[in-house]
Amino acid sequence: MKVILAKSAGFCFGVKRAVDTVYDQIREKGPIYTYGPIVHNKEVVGDLEKKGVRVITSPEEAASLTEGVLILRAHGVSREVMETIRGNQRIRCVDATCPFVKRIHDLVAEESAKGKHIIIIGNAGHPEVIGTMGWSCTPVTVIENEEEAERFEADPSTELFIVAQTTFRANKFEDLVARIRKKGYTTLCMNTICNATNERQAEAREIAGKADVMIVIGDLSSSNSAKLFEICQKECKRTFFIQTRDDLHLNLTGEEKVIGITAGASTPKNIIEEVQVHVGSGNEF
Ligand code: F3S
Repeated sequence: MKVILAKSAGFCFGVKRAVDTVYDQIREKGPIYTYGPIVHNKEVVGDLEKKGVRVITSPEEAASLTEGVLILRAHGVSREVMETIRGNQRIRCVDATCPFVKRIHDLVAEESAKGKHIIIIGNAGHPEVIGTMGWSCTPVTVIENEEEAERFEADPSTELFIVAQTTFRANKFEDLVARIRKKGYTTLCMNTICNATNERQAEAREIAGKADVMIVIGDLSSSNSAKLFEICQKECKRTFFIQTRDDLHLNLTGEEKVIGITAGASTPKNIIEEVQVHVGSGNEF
């Protein structure tokens, strides 16, 4: 039996940078806060909590802090939240927003300043999308599926600027953009899906295509892990979504020739290695 681990499994550049930032700051004196959990992974957040890192979740809380460092996670925040945090002179703000997300904020700010209606292809409840929305000074519409794209309407003279949530599925993005373009608005579109996501998804699809069993490791709250699961399941019926090695119940028959493993952008290396070692050692039979 062969175990194939995706090269792109685990932390992406932006998440690694944000998590490393928190661990670096722990060495400094004073309380450390993160604005929202630094990564969608309860193992990592739990470890940081043990080291004294506290998670705050609202601008009000940020405004009431009296000392310490507040770290912004890779997802980024809205302009308003950023201003509130920067306005609190008693704390130091370390911005770990992923540069690729920051670029979307800048694009949205620029194009909305020209009066364009902003469309974000993504999940309306996702913190990255909520943050991005907050950099527009014109109306923003979030579109996640075919129905929403078909239903979209604006004044015919409106110019549109379309961007994507960085972790959105590439072919679904193209499909939704095509549906919006069909309506005849003047449209400028930037595919802002992160390459890390594209690569991870393509590699997961390829491995799942040849695997008898596929394992996707990620936190239940991680949307990019959920998308990986969806992609792999299309290629391989026996795809399992697990959070840690403890969730592994593959019920292997012994007939399997290839087991594939991939993991979302928020899954730490040690969890991936544990799963790889466990499956490779034949403990799942
Ligand atoms: Fe950044 Fe791409 Fe990761 S946008 S946070 S490197 S998925």
